[in-house]
Amino acid sequence: MVGDEASECRSMLEVSYPMENGMVRCWEDMLHLWDHTFGPRRLNISPPDCKVLLTEPPLNPLKNRQKIAEVMFETYKFHGIYIAIQAVLTLYAQGLLTGVVIDSGDGVTHICPVYEGFSLPHLTRRLDIAGRDITRYLIKLLLLRGYAFNHTADFETVRMMKEKLCFVGYNIEQEQKLANETTILVDRSTLSHSFGFSRADFGVLVTAVFSQKFKIRIEDPPQRKHMVFMGGAVLANIMKDKESFWLSRAEYEERGLKVLDKLGGALR
Ligand SMILES: Nc1ncnc2c1ncn2[C@@H]1O[C@H](COP(=O)(O)OP(=O)(O)OP(=O)(O)O)[C@@H](O)[C@H]1O
Ligand SMILES: [Mg+2]
Repeated sequence: MVGDEASECRSMLEVSYPMENGMVRCWEDMLHLWDHTFGPRRLNISPPDCKVLLTEPPLNPLKNRQKIAEVMFETYKFHGIYIAIQAVLTLYAQGLLTGVVIDSGDGVTHICPVYEGFSLPHLTRRLDIAGRDITRYLIKLLLLRGYAFNHTADFETVRMMKEKLCFVGYNIEQEQKLANETTILVDRSTLSHSFGFSRADFGVLVTAVFSQKFKIRIEDPPQRKHMVFMGGAVLANIMKDKESFWLSRAEYEERGLKVLDKLGGALR
C-alpha cells in the first residue's frame, strides 16, 4: 500500500518512508511510490511520451540526483527530465526571483537565499530536523506518559499538538548578509499555530540580525504547503515545448550522467 491508502490504515501496517531528510534512502520503496504515481491509479501516463520536472532541496548530494536521473531515464524511459531546487520554485509560485526561503517540511529544514533565480549554496543553511522529528518526539512523549498509542485518532492528536507547538526561533547566522530587499517564505511545518502568532516578532528578529537598513518583507501565504508544486507546475508549463530546457533521453544515451551539467544554469 502506498500514499493515502497506507495512511488511512497506518495503525495496522508497518509503515516505512522511502525518503529521509529530503533524500531517497530506500530506492526499492521509492520505485513502488513512483510506479503508483505514474501508474493507472494516479497520473496514468506513458513516461516515454512525457517530460518530468523533479525537485530536490538545496545542498542535496550529487549522488542522489544522479541516481534519480538514472532511474527516470532507464527504468521509466522518460523523454526528458529537469531537476529544480525547491526553494527556487517556492519563489516562482509567488512571482518572485529574489528572496530568502525558509522551508521546514517533513524531513528537512533549510534557509536558502535565491538571487535572480540562482540559489546561493554557500549561503544556504540546512538542518536535517523537521516535521517528522517533531511527530516522533510527540509520540515518544505520549508513550512515556503511558498513553497506548496505536489508533489513527492518535495521529490526529499528534497533528493537533503540532499545530499548537511554540515557535522556538531559528538560529540565523550573522554571515548571511543578504540583498537589499528580502522576502521570507515559509513552508508546511511552519503552519504551527505559533508561526502565525510570532510573525511580527520574527520580523523584528530578522531585522535585528541584519542590522543594516534592509527592507524586509515576510510572506506566509496560506497556500504555502503546495508552494513547491505550484512553482514547479508553472515552470513545467512554460517550458513544456522548449526542448533545450530539458535533459533529454537521447542526450543521456549519448553522454550519460554528464547531461546533469546542464542543470548548472539559471535555476541552480
Ligand atoms: N498544520 C500543521 N501544523 C504543524 N505541522 C504540520 C501541519 N500540517 C502539516 N504539518 C507537518 O508538515 C510536514 C510536511 O511538510 P511538507 O509538505 O512541507 O514536507 P515535504 O515537502 O513533503 O518534506 P521535505 O521537503 O522535508 O522533504 C509533516 O511533518 C506534517 O506533519
Ligand atoms: Mg518540501
